[in-house]
Amino acid sequence: METSKIYKDLLERVGRSEGERGSKVYLRTFGCQMNVRDSQLLKGLLLQEGFSLTDREQDADVVIFNTCAVRKHAEDRVFSILGGIGKRKERIGRPRVIALVGCMAEEWKERAFEKAGYLNIVCGPNDLYRLPLAIRNAFFSPDRRIVLVGSPSREEDFYRKGNWFVEGESAFVIVMEGCNNFCSYCIVPYVRGRERSRPWQEVVSEVKKLVAQGVSKFTLLGQNVNSYQGGVDFPDLLEKVAMVEGVKSLSFATSHPKDATDRLFEVMARYPNIEKYLHLPLQSGSDRILKLMNRGYTFEDYRRKVDSYRQIVSGGKISTDLIVGFPTETEEDFQKTVEAVKSIGFDCAYIFKYSPRPFTKASMMGDDVPLEAKERRHQILLSLQKEISLQKKDKFGGCDFS
Ligand code: SAH
Ligand code: SF4
Ligand code: F3S
Repeated sequence: METSKIYKDLLERVGRSEGERGSKVYLRTFGCQMNVRDSQLLKGLLLQEGFSLTDREQDADVVIFNTCAVRKHAEDRVFSILGGIGKRKERIGRPRVIALVGCMAEEWKERAFEKAGYLNIVCGPNDLYRLPLAIRNAFFSPDRRIVLVGSPSREEDFYRKGNWFVEGESAFVIVMEGCNNFCSYCIVPYVRGRERSRPWQEVVSEVKKLVAQGVSKFTLLGQNVNSYQGGVDFPDLLEKVAMVEGVKSLSFATSHPKDATDRLFEVMARYPNIEKYLHLPLQSGSDRILKLMNRGYTFEDYRRKVDSYRQIVSGGKISTDLIVGFPTETEEDFQKTVEAVKSIGFDCAYIFKYSPRPFTKASMMGDDVPLEAKERRHQILLSLQKEISLQKKDKFGGCDFS
C-alpha cells in the first residue's frame, strides 16, 4: 500500500482528516530495526498530537532525521544529507523546524549545533515523547536551540500513544532497551542507556492490540533480548507471545551468544509459529580479539551454542555480524574469522569494517589496521559468505529468508 494511503487510513482511525491541523512532518529513518519501530511510535504520537505526515521533504514544515551512531560512515552520510536540507532552509520562504533525533542526537548533544547550525532540535531516543511539544516551541521561538537528551528510560506512555501506528501485516514490538554489555567497540550502551525491560503484560497487550489491527507477523526487539527481565525471562515471554491468538509468525533480535540458552531453543522448536531463525553475532573468530572486544565467550563456546541450536531446532537458520579490522587484528586473527565462517556455515552474515566510536574503550586503542587491509578483509569475507549463501540456495547478500 502507498504510504500516503496508509497515513490517510490512520488519520481516519483517529477521526482526523489530512492537513486539518498542525504542521506537516517529514520523518526519515536510519539504523537498526529498533529505530524503525521508534519512528513508527513517533509518527503515531505526532498524529495524536495534531501533526500530519508527508512523504515529500519539500512539502514539510518539520524535517526529522531519526539516526544511528554505530559507525562513523553512517553519521557522515546523515550530516551530508541533512546539510543539503539545512542549506535550503532560508530559501523555503516559510518557517521550518529541523530536528536531529535518535542515537546520533544522544551522542552529539549540544555539539550538534556547532556541526550543523541549521538544527532547531536535538532529541535522544529516550526523550522522543517530548518531541511534539519541542516542535511547537521551536515554531514559537525559532532562534531557540532545544536539546532533549539524557533520560535513563522512556515513559511507557510513549508506547501506548504511538502503538496504534502500523504499516501492513508485520510489526516490531520493543521488549527491552539499552545494553549493559559494553563491547569495547560499541557506542550503543552510551546512546541507548542501561538495560531495562517492559513488563511482560505490556508486551502481550501491545501484541494483542496489533493483532486486532490486522498484524500477524511479529518481531520482538531488544539490543540483547536474552537479558529480558520484565517479570518473566525471555524464553517465557517468547512463549507467551507465541500463544497469543492471531500471531502467525514470530521472530526476535538480537541475541548475545553468552545469553542464548537451550531453553530458548526449546521454545523455538516447540511452537510452529516461531520462525526457525537466529541472529547470533560472532564478531570475530579469534579468541584474542573476542577478549579485547569484551564479548565474554570464546569461539569454542560460540560453536557449542550453534551446535545445540542446530540439534534442538532442526533446520534452523542462523545469521551473524562480523567486524574486520578491530585494533591490533593481525592476518592470523583474520584467518581465524575466515575459518570460523567456513566451519559454521552461516546462512547470512552482515560484515562491517571497524570504525572507532566516541566514549568506547576500543577508541582509545588506536585504529591501527590500515584502511586498505580492512577493505581487503571485508571483500574476502563478503565473497566467501556469498559463496556459502549460494550453496545454501539462499538469496545472497540481503539476509532475506523469505
Ligand atoms: N545489539 C546488537 C547490535 C549492535 S550494533 C548486538 O549486540 O548484536 C550491530 C552491529 O554493528 C554489531 O553486531 C557489530 O557487528 C557492528 N558494530 C558495532 N559497533 C561497531 C563499530 N564501532 N565498528 C564497526 N562495526 C560495529
Ligand atoms: Fe553493542 Fe555489544 Fe551491546 Fe550489542 S551487546 S549493543 S554490540 S555493547
Ligand atoms: Fe544504531 Fe542506535 Fe540502533 S546506534 S544500531 S540506531 S540502537
